[in-house]
Amino acid sequence: MKLVIGNQKAYLTKEQLTDFVKKIKELNNKNVIICPSSIYFGMFDNVKVLLGAQDVSKFDGDATTGDISFKQLKSMNINFSIVGHSERRQLLKESIEDTNIKVRKLLDNNMIPILCVGETIEEKSSGVTKQVIFDEISGALKDVPNNCIDKLIIAYEPIWSIGTGNVPTNDEIDNVIRSIKKFLLDEYNSNNIVLYGGSVNTKNIDELNTVSSIDGYLIGGASTKAVEFLQIIDKCS
Ligand code: PGA
Repeated sequence: MKLVIGNQKAYLTKEQLTDFVKKIKELNNKNVIICPSSIYFGMFDNVKVLLGAQDVSKFDGDATTGDISFKQLKSMNINFSIVGHSERRQLLKESIEDTNIKVRKLLDNNMIPILCVGETIEEKSSGVTKQVIFDEISGALKDVPNNCIDKLIIAYEPIWSIGTGNVPTNDEIDNVIRSIKKFLLDEYNSNNIVLYGGSVNTKNIDELNTVSSIDGYLIGGASTKAVEFLQIIDKCS
């Protein structure tokens, strides 16, 4: 059984999501979390699926135009949020300090951060993948009390793999995921769920499922196509 998290980004219009929701309405699987655009949370009211946010505000205050605070998410019974996604870090220049604030805010409020880490193609070519990831994890976990670190879900997403159709070899993924798990155990005495993300689809899911260290997937594009998403969930159940 693997955890499947759908990151629908800003892909779907209301009409497209209406169709998606209709097709997945029978889904009743505790190992699936869908992160739609937050304007659409209400469209899942009659679907028995856990929802997550794609991001959370780093601010506590109410006067933060355009942001969604952890209090608002909690009030909607949304207890998961992706943080540190590479698209936000690259396009919106979010820093590791921003990610750290968000991780702390979520954990302080018994919510679960889904922390994205991963290397660029240049970093992979220079052989610094693991160091980059360890630095990202350490930065994101700065001043987080050790006793709640095991709640965190980590998503290993090589940046060069997101939306490109290029996926690392099974051995490469296995090697990085095992190193992440060992790092968390050695540094924080913590056992964490570690997902793989980046171009996961119905064509490569069987192959990926043979990697026992992968605890689940963070799925972008393929999580917006109901039939494909259901097939992947089926193969992970
Ligand atoms: P992808 O996106 O599955 O479309 O590559 C994954 C992600 O960005 O979380």
